[in-house]
Amino acid sequence: PYPVYARMRREAPIYHNPELNFWALSRYDDVAAALVDSARYSSDHGPVLDGGVWGPKARTMLSFVATDPPDHTRMRSVIARGFTMRRVAALEPMIRGLARGYVEEGLEKGTFDFARDLSAKLPLDVISELMGVPPSDRAEVRERNNGLLRYHPGSDPSEDGLRNLFSLGGYYASIIAERRKAPRDDLVSVLVADDGLTDEEIVPFMLLLVGAGSETTTHLLNAAWYWAWRNPEQRAAAFGGAIAPWMEESLRYDTPAQGTARRLTEDTVLHGVDLPAGTRMWLLAGSANRDESVFPDPDAYDLGRDTSKLISFGAGRHYCLGASLARMEARVALEELTRLIAPDYEIDTTGIRRTRHGNVRGMLSLPTTVR
Ligand code: HEM
Repeated sequence: PYPVYARMRREAPIYHNPELNFWALSRYDDVAAALVDSARYSSDHGPVLDGGVWGPKARTMLSFVATDPPDHTRMRSVIARGFTMRRVAALEPMIRGLARGYVEEGLEKGTFDFARDLSAKLPLDVISELMGVPPSDRAEVRERNNGLLRYHPGSDPSEDGLRNLFSLGGYYASIIAERRKAPRDDLVSVLVADDGLTDEEIVPFMLLLVGAGSETTTHLLNAAWYWAWRNPEQRAAAFGGAIAPWMEESLRYDTPAQGTARRLTEDTVLHGVDLPAGTRMWLLAGSANRDESVFPDPDAYDLGRDTSKLISFGAGRHYCLGASLARMEARVALEELTRLIAPDYEIDTTGIRRTRHGNVRGMLSLPTTVR
């Protein structure tokens, strides 16, 4: 999509898509300004434009990411108590153990699918851990989650995907009931506390975590692995220990969540175009992160660049609640990968498969051979 974005930034900084009837913003300054102006750019119809999800009922599927204040403020403050630095840091040894296990399994095989065998498993297992899913049920949760988010924009999620979604909902409801009876020191117990959330609020939140926190992190890891392979000089820096720059540049270069949707609450004029209240807006972080006015030579994958302004986790009220967890997960996985695997790995590009989704961008299959 990047050549298209470049043309949009140049020629049509506000661009109308007639098929799905939305207006896209592609320049960094426009996207950043819209993200922080949550009074004008409402989230109350949800962050995705797809027909089956967009609308006032989005919050029943996607929880507080599809709300505005005051509901958003109340829910986010409860949920944030479950995402403290202490809780995130406490997960590190578990994450390292999982990452090492998956890398070692891959090494034994010699040729393995980086996406399926490692990067798709790790983030979902971490979320299962956060939500109190016992290890014995994790493979099942992974299986049911499969394919949920992989439908194409304009179409509705597949029936199977929806069935799986709701069956997971029932499963999470049983965990909530257990924690109500016997609270522990974990995220779900925080959510069910006296001043916490209702069951009707918690189940969608758990489903949101699976959607927001797993595939995105998967695609960050895939992007890091793939783009380092494509750029041997950068790979040498990455394997030489530049883990944080590797992660940040991958977040910028191939942004896992390419865009987010908003609904205008007031009549607005942008680049000379009159947009009435109610207009569907698409804020393209994936383009903002390649805006030449902020990131010089944006199409070069360069671990040496300043990435401090990247917008991959959003901005403003809805700034990703899991950003520090995602960064820690990616760092730990990349540390284990560089420790256990030699930098001369190969990727079979004929076997790469990509997502077909309007928002989540990345690879579903990434066949890798290690020496
Ligand atoms: C929100 C990206 C990982 C939980 C967001 C938003 C973005 C984003 C762009 C803002 C959406 C909007 O403004 O409409 C990412 C990326 C990730 C990642 C790129 C990985 C590389 C995670 C993880 C978790 C998580 C690991 C939790 C386990 C959330 C939640 C929200 C959110 C709960 C909603 C926050 C709110 O509405 O106030 N994420 N995310 N994310 N993310 Fe992440």
